[in-house]
Amino acid sequence: MAKIVVSASSLPAGRNMSSQLDYIKKMQNFGADMYHLDVMDGLFVKNQTVDYTYLEQLKMSSTLLFDVHLMVQNPTKVINKYAKAGANILTIHYEVFDDDKKFVKALKQIKELGMMAGIALDVDTAVESIEPFIKYCDLVLVLSVKAGKGGQTFNEETLKKIKKLRKTDSRILIEVDGGINDDTGAKCVKAGADILVSGSYIYNNDAYEAIQSLKGRK
Ligand code: DX5
Ligand code: ZN
Repeated sequence: MAKIVVSASSLPAGRNMSSQLDYIKKMQNFGADMYHLDVMDGLFVKNQTVDYTYLEQLKMSSTLLFDVHLMVQNPTKVINKYAKAGANILTIHYEVFDDDKKFVKALKQIKELGMMAGIALDVDTAVESIEPFIKYCDLVLVLSVKAGKGGQTFNEETLKKIKKLRKTDSRILIEVDGGINDDTGAKCVKAGADILVSGSYIYNNDAYEAIQSLKGRK
């Protein structure tokens, strides 16, 4: 069985820098593989959270890979900043681009700067929309909740999207984000997902147990 990668969402730790530093240390100690930095600008989604300035500091205190989910209206403006701050994966939303050429240019720029390029697909966006762009990215982040906040319920329709995506491309990394727990996570892996993001399931339970159960070890 392929190794399941767990990416712990930064959302539960809020915008306070010291609580972010405490939280990421905990996530690393309890076996998370990556830190899923949920960046919200208050424009693409109504909440506002952390940004690249947090990443600079967090990078100094953790060896976790930084899996940055940009929920921002104009990602092109900040790609450079996240590269400099040390993002390993930079994921941008398909929905914020109204021009295919600009979308491809942004994905290429992410890769040219040495990061893995991710395409994020909001819960209501069809897989078909991003098929022409998959060849420009390393990873697709399938949202199983509406982008913008944690603690929502997993949308079961997502399983069909994961299966369809996996059928479309056997190479691509598939990451699922939103309402992931041991039950929904196992269903996503069965459908073809490689990486599971979790915020509230880890935060509201024993973090070590939750992470191990997401990895299928419980
Ligand atoms: C939603 C974020 C997700 C979410 C995950 O916009 O992208 O990462 O916070 O949180 P849970 O696991 O609580 O759904
Ligand atoms: Zn996210």
